[in-house]
Amino acid sequence: MANIWELGKFKLRAAILQTIALLFSKQGWSGENLTVRRQPTNSFVGGTKRPQPTNLFVGKSNVTKITKPQPQMLQLCTTSLHPQKPKLMRINLTTIFLFFLAIGFGISACAPTKQPAALNEQEQKAYLTRGQTLAQTSFAALSSRLMAAIETGGIPHAVTYCNTAALPLIDSLSKQYKASIRRTSLKVRNPMDAPQDWEKEVLLSYQQQLAEGKRPTPIVKILDKKRVAFASPIFMAQPCLKCHGKLGETLSADHYQVVKQLYPQDQAIGYVDGDWRGMWSITFVRN
Ligand code: HEC
Repeated sequence: MANIWELGKFKLRAAILQTIALLFSKQGWSGENLTVRRQPTNSFVGGTKRPQPTNLFVGKSNVTKITKPQPQMLQLCTTSLHPQKPKLMRINLTTIFLFFLAIGFGISACAPTKQPAALNEQEQKAYLTRGQTLAQTSFAALSSRLMAAIETGGIPHAVTYCNTAALPLIDSLSKQYKASIRRTSLKVRNPMDAPQDWEKEVLLSYQQQLAEGKRPTPIVKILDKKRVAFASPIFMAQPCLKCHGKLGETLSADHYQVVKQLYPQDQAIGYVDGDWRGMWSITFVRN
């Protein structure tokens, strides 16, 4: 049993601590063994009466009102209000979480990404034949119209014709044959014909083969799960030089003026008969 003197001591101590908490902090104040907090009034059960100071026993999960406070109980109350988990334990949980997270990432990073299946010999041949047929058909369509344009209005007219008709003609062939047909080069006349990444790789390998004295040949290449590409080299012939030849020699300055007006950034001149010019690039949707 606590005597009146002891009870008074605790009430006095609580009053002093309350004042300190109010003065120094909005949150409250924690000492070695004591926690002083302000509670909102709606947490007082019971309503209209002005609440009086009370002593509460606070267990781990329940709160019990006690009428006769005892020093030990007040001690208990204050120590168990903010039970501190050992720091080591918290670090451990975080470490475990991070460990599993890292494992998860590791697994997903190392998991083999599904590669598109390689082409068997039969498929390889089929794409090669189809590509060659389309390249020849497109070349025939382009050059027959070009020759007709030269006959009608000479080189200047043919250049203008090429400028407006070459790409739409190739596009319509693409639709007809359900493939994407293009011409590209390391030195382009029309910037729209500049190579994409995979095309540049093939162009550079063709260039390398020529430097080694080999003649480049058509190839088939898987681009991704859905696309297979065909490429075949384009070489210069005598009639081409009127528009792509050496300036002042096979290519007249007058004609080149017309070219330059339409293609100010033209790079596609200086060729001689038999030179490598670029490549056909045909992309198929994989069956
Ligand atoms: C009458 C002039 C003319 C003749 C002849 C000509 N070309 Fe072109 N060539 C052009 C023009 C103009 C373009 C740009 C077409 C465009 O804007 O789509 C072009 C574009 C090309 C391209 C596409 C790549 C790029 O640089 O934009 C290739 C490849 C090409 N020519 C090869 C040839 C070959 C091979 C021959 C001969 C068989 C030939 N050309 C004959 C005028 C000509």
